[in-house]
Amino acid sequence: MADKIEQFLRSGVGGAIAGQLGLVVPDLVRCESGTGLPSGTVVLAGGAATPAATAALRAQLDALGLTCVQVAGADCGAQFPEGSEDKCAALVFDGRGLNTAADLADLHRFFSPMVRRLHNNGRILVIAEPHEDAGSPERAAAQRALEGFTRSVAKEIGNRGSTAQLLILEPGAEAAARSTLAYFLSTRSAYIDGQAVRVRSGVTAPEFDLENPLTGRVVIVTGAARGIGAAIARALARRGARIVGVDIPPSAQELRDVMGEIGGEALDADITAEDAPGRIADKALEVGGAHAIVHNAGVTRDKLLVNMKEQWWDMTLEINLAAAQRITDRLLQAGALNDGGRIVGVASMVGISGQRGQTNYAASKAGVIGYVDYMSRDPALLARGITVNAVAPGFIETQMTAAIPVVTREIARRLNSLSQGGQPEDVAEAIAWFANPGSQAINGVTLRVCGQNWIGA
Ligand SMILES: NC(=O)c1ccc[n+]([C@@H]2O[C@H](COP(=O)([O-])OP(=O)(O)OC[C@H]3O[C@@H](n4cnc5c(N)ncnc54)[C@H](O)[C@@H]3O)[C@@H](O)[C@H]2O)c1
Repeated sequence: MADKIEQFLRSGVGGAIAGQLGLVVPDLVRCESGTGLPSGTVVLAGGAATPAATAALRAQLDALGLTCVQVAGADCGAQFPEGSEDKCAALVFDGRGLNTAADLADLHRFFSPMVRRLHNNGRILVIAEPHEDAGSPERAAAQRALEGFTRSVAKEIGNRGSTAQLLILEPGAEAAARSTLAYFLSTRSAYIDGQAVRVRSGVTAPEFDLENPLTGRVVIVTGAARGIGAAIARALARRGARIVGVDIPPSAQELRDVMGEIGGEALDADITAEDAPGRIADKALEVGGAHAIVHNAGVTRDKLLVNMKEQWWDMTLEINLAAAQRITDRLLQAGALNDGGRIVGVASMVGISGQRGQTNYAASKAGVIGYVDYMSRDPALLARGITVNAVAPGFIETQMTAAIPVVTREIARRLNSLSQGGQPEDVAEAIAWFANPGSQAINGVTLRVCGQNWIGA
C-alpha cells in the first residue's frame, strides 16, 4: 500500500534525493515461505567470562541449523581480518559476562568493525541478564547499559532494513529461548526493531516444528474478517493451525471468504453481545479445546475529550478491553483453553505513548497491557502452562490507518527507524511466535510491532 511519496523515494532519482536527506525507505525482506532463517553467517561473540552459558546459547543456534562462526571474546580480527570483504547475516553478542562500565568496551571492540559487515536486512541480537538480579550495582548498570546500546544501534542500521533487539535471558533460560532466537533472527520479525524481550527460566519449552509449530491446534481469532485479524488467521493457518474466526454479523461474507481460503470456521458474533463468550467457549469445546485465543477485534472512535460522546467512550472500552476479558474468563471457566495454551491481546503503541483525540482508545489499549501483565502472573495459569502476551502495533497499513488524513498519515508512517508503516503480516508473525508451543518461556510480554517508532519509545 505504498503511496506516491514512498514510490518516489524508492525510485532512482527519488532514492538519490532521499539518501541526501536521510529519508531512505529500505526494502524489508519478509518471510513468504519456509522458516525465514538466514542462510549466511551468524557471528556469535562475547561470552569469554561466561563460557558455559554461551555454549548453551551456541547449542540453540546450532539446533536452528544456522551457519555459526564463534568469536573468542569481542575480538573478531582473526576471523574477519581488516581488508576482507566477508559479510554476515546476523551478529549475536553475548553480553552476560559484562560486569562493569569498563567491560562495556567490548561492545565497541566487537560492533564497531563488524556492523559494516552486516548484510542489508541483517539482524543484531544482544544477550543480557535481568539487571534487577545482577548481584552488584556495577553489574546492574552494565547489564542495563546493553539496552541503551541495542536501542541506539537499531537506529543506526534501520536505513538498511536491519534490526537489533535485546534478549534478556533469565539464568538457565537458553534451552527455552530457541523459538525466540528463531523469530528474531528470521525475516518473520522484519518490522520489530529496538525491542527488549525477557525469556523466563524454570519452564520447559516443548520441541516444536520450525515451519509448522501449530499443526493440529485450534486458534480463535476475533475480528478475523479483514485487516490484521485476517492476516493473523492466514499466518497461523500457514503454520498448521485450524482457525475459528469471529467477527460481527455484517462482516459475515468477508469472514466466510477468509475462512474459506484457509479451511477455517466462521463464527458470526459481536464480541460484546451477552451470549458471545458462551458461544465462543462452546465452539472451542466442540473442537476439542482451543490452543489459543487472539483478542484482535478492535475499533477507534476518535474525538477530543471535550467532544467525546459517552457512547463512543463506552463502545471503545467495551470492544477493545471488557469483551476480551469476559471471553477469556469464560474460556477458562469452561475448560475450553487447553493446557499450554496462549492468550494474546492486541494493544497499541498509543496505549504506551498516549494520543491526542484518542483518550478512549489509549485507555483501552493500555488496559490490555495491564491485563496481560497481571494475568501472566496468575498462579493457576502458570500451573497450566498458559501464557499471556500482547502485541502493541505502531502504524500498520490497514483500512483503519488508510482513513487517517494524508499529511498525518505520511508523518505517522515515517516516524520510525525503518521509515515505513508495517504490514498486517508483521503483527501476525509476532502472534505466531507467541502462539508457538516452543515459546513457553515468553510470558507477560507486550511486544511493539512498530519499526522502533520514535513516539513512546
Ligand atoms: N492498523 C493499525 O495501525 C493498528 C495499530 C495498533 C493497533 N491496532 C489494533 O489491531 C486490531 C485490528 O486492527 P485493524 O487495523 O485490522 O482494524 P480493522 O478495522 O481493519 O479490523 C477490525 C476487525 O474487528 C472487527 N470487529 C469490530 N468490532 C467487533 C465486535 N464488536 N465484535 C466482533 N468483531 C468486531 C471488525 O468487523 C473488523 O473485521 C485492533 O484491535 C486495533 O486496535 C491496529
